Amino acid sequence: MSLPADNIKVCVVGSGNWGSAIAKIVGHNAAKLPNFCDRVTMYVYEEMIDGKKLTEIINEQHENVKYLPGHKLPPNVVAVPDVVEASKDADILIFVIPHQFIRGLAAQMLGKIKTTAVGLSLIKGFDVAEGGGIALISHIVTKHLNIPCAVLMGANLANEVADEKFCETTIGCKDMKIAPVLRDIIQTEYFRVVVVDDEDAVEICGALKNIVACGAGFVDGLKLGDNTKAAIIRLGLMEMIKFVEVFYPGAKLSTFFESCGVADLITTCYGGRNRKVSEAFVTSGKSIKQLEDEMLNGQKLQGPITAEEVNFMLKNKGMEDKFPLFTAIHRICTGALKPKDVIDAIRTHPEHMQTFGAK
Ligand SMILES: NC(=O)c1ccc[n+]([C@@H]2O[C@H](COP(=O)([O-])OP(=O)(O)OC[C@H]3O[C@@H](n4cnc5c(N)ncnc54)[C@H](O)[C@@H]3O)[C@@H](O)[C@H]2O)c1
Repeated sequence: MSLPADNIKVCVVGSGNWGSAIAKIVGHNAAKLPNFCDRVTMYVYEEMIDGKKLTEIINEQHENVKYLPGHKLPPNVVAVPDVVEASKDADILIFVIPHQFIRGLAAQMLGKIKTTAVGLSLIKGFDVAEGGGIALISHIVTKHLNIPCAVLMGANLANEVADEKFCETTIGCKDMKIAPVLRDIIQTEYFRVVVVDDEDAVEICGALKNIVACGAGFVDGLKLGDNTKAAIIRLGLMEMIKFVEVFYPGAKLSTFFESCGVADLITTCYGGRNRKVSEAFVTSGKSIKQLEDEMLNGQKLQGPITAEEVNFMLKNKGMEDKFPLFTAIHRICTGALKPKDVIDAIRTHPEHMQTFGAK
């Protein structure tokens, strides 16, 4: 698989908070880099804002006033409401939509994109596989669109990236011919990229940390303090590592120390929307769905659905007790447990049952 030597065309499939922030970066880089086509298309799920189409607002004002207000997009980023029209000429397809919409969009795009196109998924979450497992979103892209798909995950809260505050990110890409091109279109002075070949582990870190963030939000809501929150984060990390060891063996431990691992976990457990809504879930007594609607202005919450998808698989495999934190968080989100029960669930965590030297 190889990309064209010049005039590489990029389409950003998605225009939410992160989609818009990444379109800003990609638009600037495409205009600057000699081997890229200046014009970057951005698929926008159309909606009306004060009687006007969001695509028209973006193309006239160069700002996504709903999902990334206060940040100008470069004028070479063109909003397109039809996903087929937006993606048909692209050599690089950057997928950045809430994960529940990927199958529907892929079905529309199938057979209408370049057969030589390459995907890069920024989507955090899983798909439920037939027969009781989970499927990685990058694998769904490959399976449904017949293109290879790398991933990008990291400690990247969209508003801070859009503010051009320094951070790092991780690209997981096995194809070392494609990886440098993906890095070039993403990297800036303030957004530094590390490429690793451990694609699956990078993606799984990005999905699972949203579950742990719900746990962090619960302990914040319960006012249990920083030590308890650190325990949630550490045990969450151990369950993330175990999950990869059990279900996707062969990953490198070092991948968990990249931005996609520990760094994303920490930032999400302090700053992300899953933490914020989960804290309000405890303090307000309202349902997760109600809070998502009230607090996120159309943005989607990934943690509770990811917890449900993971639980679907753990339950099927009889492994819920091996992942007590993930399991408890799912049960709290569904109302089967009270938020305070998260502590009982981790008091006798398998990590506390180790004897010296035994694993
Ligand atoms: N926001 C962040 O800080 C951040 C950072 C890293 C990764 N991510 C991940 O990026 C992905 C996209 O998140 P986001 O923050 O850009 O989105 P978002 O939650 O801000 O916005 C939701 C988006 O979904 C669109 N949408 C609604 N209904 C739709 C439908 N039926 N079909 C297609 N699109 C529809 C909306 O128009 C909007 O663009 C998620 O997987 C998220 O976990 C987000």
